[in-house]
Parts: sequence; structure tokens; C-alpha cells
Amino acid sequence: MTVPEQIQLENIADSDYEIFALLKQRYSPRIFKDKKVTEQHLHQLFEAVRWAPSSNNEQPWRFLYAEKGSEAYEKIIANLTGNNKLWAKNAPILMLTAYKKDTDNGNENFHALHDLGMGLGAMTVQAQYMGIAMHHMAGLDHKNAQRIFNIPKEYHIATAVAIGYYGGELEELPEKLQSKEISQRQRMPQNQFAFKHSWNTQ
Ligand SMILES: Cc1cc2nc3c(=O)[nH]c(=O)nc-3n(C[C@H](O)[C@H](O)[C@H](O)COP(=O)(O)O)c2cc1C
Repeated sequence: MTVPEQIQLENIADSDYEIFALLKQRYSPRIFKDKKVTEQHLHQLFEAVRWAPSSNNEQPWRFLYAEKGSEAYEKIIANLTGNNKLWAKNAPILMLTAYKKDTDNGNENFHALHDLGMGLGAMTVQAQYMGIAMHHMAGLDHKNAQRIFNIPKEYHIATAVAIGYYGGELEELPEKLQSKEISQRQRMPQNQFAFKHSWNTQ
């Protein structure tokens, strides 16, 4: 077994109950295989979003993606913050995600961020099915990104996402991030977030 395969195996969720294999296997890597994501696969990812549910079928999600080597890719890297700047450059695709703030009839769409998340959830599972990882990032100067990409004010940038096939070498990361890549994944237990019959904050 190769080292990247070993890392993938060790990152499989140690779930308390049985869940869909793709959900167990998904995680957010900081290393990626050095391979272009095919046009066909990119279309399949966006098609998964296309068929996601959204409030009133408003489909408020928008995406701006860039291939490694392009000027747009460098602009996204330049707007990442903190550790994201150190590892996201391993991804063959970087993407900005945004939502349209108002509904088509001009009212504030309170559920737009929810629906962008629905779309990204669908995209993430579709990606997993194709051996593609998506690492979502809030660590982004979204105001500056909005400005330099001339994104109209009717839209709000939510996140950046690093996208690429699972793989890559651990050595591509600085040491402090290598340990994060292989550390035990943590989750709160279900009784801390799923309440039956009455709210239960302890
Ligand atoms: C909206 C959102 C923002 C995130 N922002 C960052 C980020 O800026 N940098 C980062 O390394 N990971 C980021 N993550 C990844 C989370 O840290 C990760 O999903 C979480 O720790 C659980 O790990 P897992 O995805 O490997 O299961 C983000 C995830 C989401 C959904």
C-alpha cells in the first residue's frame, strides 16, 4: 500500500452507526494527486449542484473556479489566509463559492447560504464518488476577493474550496500540517446536537 492510500485508510470515519461508505471515506485533505481534474469530472461536480434542493428553487449558488497555473488561481491563493496559503497550492483547482443575496423578486433570500451549502454538500459527495476531495475554506479575505474578481454586490462570497484527486505526498506539507493530516478525526456525540422532543443544552 502506498503512503497516500494509507493516509486515506486511516482517515475513514470511525462512525458510531453505519453510514454510506462515501460519507465515511470523505475527509478534507491538504495534499492532492498531481493530476488535472478532467473537464468531464468538473461538469459532473457542477451537475450534482444543479440538482440539489433549494428554497423556492432559487438556486442561489455561484462558483468561480481556476486551474493551477492560471492567473486567477494565483489570485485566489493570494486571498487565502493563515495556514490555507501553505497547503491549498497543492490543489489542481481552487474555487470561490458565492450566493445571490436576494430572490428573483427582490426580497432578501434568508436561505441562500443554506442552499449554497446544500449544493456544496451534493458536490462533495459526488466528488467523493469520483475519487475527488474537496477541502472547504472559510479562511479567505472575501471582501478583497470580491473586489479583484469584480463580483457584483448582489452576490456574497462564502468560501474558497481546494479540489483535486486524493493522493499526493505528505512531504509537500510543512511539518506542523503533516501531523494534522494524519491525526485522529474528532466529532461530538449525537446527543450534543440531536434532541428529541425538547431542546437540551447541557
Ligand atoms: C464552511 C467551512 C469552512 C472551513 N474552513 C477551513 C479553513 O479555512 N481551513 C481549513 O484548513 N479547513 C477548513 N474547513 C475544513 C474543516 O476544518 C473540516 O471539515 C473539519 O475539521 C472536519 O474535518 P474533515 O472534513 O476532514 O472531516 C472548513 C470547512 C467548512 C465546511
